[in-house]
Amino acid sequence: MSALQKMMGWIDDRFPLTATYKAHLSEYYAPKNFNFWYFFGSLALLVLVIQIVTGIFLTMNYKPDAELAFTSVEYIMRDVDWGWLIRYMHSTGASMFFVVVYLHMFRGLMYGSYRKPRELIWIFGVLIYLALMAEAFLGYLLPWGQMSFWGAQVIVNLFAAVPFIGEDLSVWIRGDYVISDATLNRFFAFHVIALPLVLIALVAVHLVALHEVGSNNPDGVEIKKKKDPVTHIPLDGIPFHPYYTVKDIVGVIVFLMVFSAILFFAPEMGGYFLEAANFVPADPLQTPAHIAPLWYFTPFYAILRAVPPLFGSQFPGVVAMGMSIVLMFFLPWLDRSKVKSIRYRGPIYKIMLALFIVSFVGLGYLGLLPSTPVATIFAQVFSVIYFLFFLLMPWYTSIDKTKPEPERVTG
Ligand code: HEM
Repeated sequence: MSALQKMMGWIDDRFPLTATYKAHLSEYYAPKNFNFWYFFGSLALLVLVIQIVTGIFLTMNYKPDAELAFTSVEYIMRDVDWGWLIRYMHSTGASMFFVVVYLHMFRGLMYGSYRKPRELIWIFGVLIYLALMAEAFLGYLLPWGQMSFWGAQVIVNLFAAVPFIGEDLSVWIRGDYVISDATLNRFFAFHVIALPLVLIALVAVHLVALHEVGSNNPDGVEIKKKKDPVTHIPLDGIPFHPYYTVKDIVGVIVFLMVFSAILFFAPEMGGYFLEAANFVPADPLQTPAHIAPLWYFTPFYAILRAVPPLFGSQFPGVVAMGMSIVLMFFLPWLDRSKVKSIRYRGPIYKIMLALFIVSFVGLGYLGLLPSTPVATIFAQVFSVIYFLFFLLMPWYTSIDKTKPEPERVTG
């Protein structure tokens, strides 16, 4: 027995290292027909790691103080060795996180990955999405630029629209009557430690739930139903390692090429990843001409603005915005189709999904623009389609003409 084998034996007697490696990698069987859309889970993990590592290094020179925050970021950009790279990796990483997560969620919609028995994977996913939005919002205040300050002002003021307790609630969140040093300090605490812990914990349970039931696939066929009678290995399964570790590395390399191209050639991405107004220090006495959140929030911002105020209160818009996300939790029970994958669904679901995507992207675009009467009408139409996609789902998925699902994956 070699020294290495002896050492592994010593560890395995005390900790299930080999057993875990086998259960989750070398003898974890994943469907053999994963396609392009299955890259984004591992890429989301990669971006999470990038954000945490660059975040730690940013924290070494960032000052969470309303007097010093803006200049400390400029100091990182100009004077700290490689500081510009760390900062741009973190700011670009934030947007790329949402790109990757949106594509990951879209895959779920296409292949019905949220359906039984994967309801909890989906629910943990929606919670991750909520935590990610909170994390991005809190982080955006930290550079203490004009958009940091006024963006936070607008969003925290939404809480003030809640009847009866709204005013107190918004003061409680800010720790002051306006966005101030107290707000910056608490946002910093939540951004650097509280929410990252929540995110890591949620990703862990997301993956535990995934490995309990196994992945779905582009055919929506349950591979555990057809096992080899002797080995009990799913006939359509292949070991995660080496097959998908190698496949995922290809995804990682292509992703890093795109990521580097943005980082080195267009880190502000024409104002979509870093807004021009945020290179101006926060000024509580001067409201910027046009306040818009970053692109990943704009679909919800457009829904908020599409709903007219009631007796001067923005509360109905706030409720609509909240509901647009809450509805996602119910997706596994709203879908009544006999099949999971879009490949075997009928035309109605395909049309509804296409309309939903057009509406979501359309809302995202409208949320970037200043509000005009024409833009508001479009936003209202898109919002109605967004909600109908969910609310009418039990009906249209049960009447839709589906094709028979195959017994085995089709390759
Ligand atoms: C930090 C964010 C996230 C990370 C790191 C993450 C990670 C992963 C990984 C590694 C997988 C397996 C590989 C794959 O299927 O692509 C997966 C599967 C899955 N994720 Fe996520 N995820 C995240 C966010 C989300 C969100 C926001 C949702 C939905 C709201 C979601 C829903 C799902 C579903 C339904 C599956 C199973 C897919 C299938 O088997 O077809 N995830 N996730």
